[in-house]
Amino acid sequence: MEVAVSTVVVTGAAGFIGSTLVRHLLEQTDFQITGVDALTDYYDVALKRRNLGAIESERFTFIESDLNRLNLREILAGASHVFHLAGQPGVRKSWGAEFSEYIQHNILATQSLLEAAKGSTALKSLVYASSSSVYGEAERFPCLETDRPLPRSPYGVSKLAAEHLCGLYAHTYGVPAVSLRFFTVYGPGQRPDMAFNRFIRAVLEDREVEVYGDGSQIREFTFVDDITEAAMRAAVAELKPGTVINLSGGSSVDVNEVLSTLGDITGKEVRRQYVAAMDGDVHRTGGDTTQARLLLDWQPRTGLRTGLEREYEWLAEGGGSPSADLPVAQA
Ligand code: NAD
Ligand code: UGA
Repeated sequence: MEVAVSTVVVTGAAGFIGSTLVRHLLEQTDFQITGVDALTDYYDVALKRRNLGAIESERFTFIESDLNRLNLREILAGASHVFHLAGQPGVRKSWGAEFSEYIQHNILATQSLLEAAKGSTALKSLVYASSSSVYGEAERFPCLETDRPLPRSPYGVSKLAAEHLCGLYAHTYGVPAVSLRFFTVYGPGQRPDMAFNRFIRAVLEDREVEVYGDGSQIREFTFVDDITEAAMRAAVAELKPGTVINLSGGSSVDVNEVLSTLGDITGKEVRRQYVAAMDGDVHRTGGDTTQARLLLDWQPRTGLRTGLEREYEWLAEGGGSPSADLPVAQA
């Protein structure tokens, strides 16, 4: 797609979705990109350095820093678009003392960014990576953006709080913030704590796959390239500030079905160990994508089998293993 912009800021640029987005922006546009990432230790930092190492362009500048500690006005000066993907992810780890990380990285960092965006005359859009987890155990499917969100995990609460902050700064100060609700994203680069990555590595290492609960939980898995495509479209769509859009991948399947498909792809037996269900995991997610179609002319293009094959190939080729450290700029 054609995107006529100059300077773009991507937060969370070393992460799974952020690094994929940076590569796609570099391939498809000609503007300068500033990536910011704190390289948090939620998972192996070497994997994040590897993600950064795969970004080869003089048009990319990386700043290793926590959004809570940066002079964000300086970072945002002159930026036309911000993609805000930095955050503490993961539904299941957000209970207990860990919640303070979610407050810091998801709520406080977002509020700091919005404060810095306030009053910027250059800024055309701030795209926030929200989450299907805001819906919780929904009353009906597919969920509409206007349905009442009722998160079932502390993570979901923190993502919803940040979404509300985006709406608040849009309403009060006209910050051009929009929230995209990503539904369980997968593909090459996926975080090592997420289901598909764990399942595939178990198969490759001839271990049992651990299934939380009875495997009947349904997710609308979304391929990462479809997500980055939608984010780029949202950045240039001139949406009403405060808009919220579902990005769900159309692959509405349960975990057991995913494992059967993985068995077909690998030609291996996928041995399963069923363990206790995890607190915070909802039984089903699924989003209506009418708004995405109408406002972004977007619909998911990658089916589950194709996407799972892509992630399998990436991990089978060693893509998910840490490699040599990359020197990075300090803020
Ligand atoms: P990720 O952990 O791979 O990437 C997030 C990055 O943000 C990390 O590299 C981390 O170091 C960085 N970060 C965290 N706090 C920071 C801070 N305060 N300052 C600067 N950098 C910080 O996760 P991901 O799966 O790529 O998710 C990206 C975003 O999308 C997150 O906000 C997540 O909540 C959201 N999201 C992800 C999914 C999914 O299925 N992966 C679904 C819905 C929403
Ligand atoms: C994912 C991301 O981790 C969140 O950051 C994101 O916000 C959320 O999607 C979202 O859509 O909003 P989740 O749906 O839990 O959360 O994604 P996976 O880790 O891929 O898990 C999918 C399903 O597989 C879950 O029901 C989980 O219980 C199950 N699972 C996961 C297992 O059975 N075994 C595992 O080893 C891992």
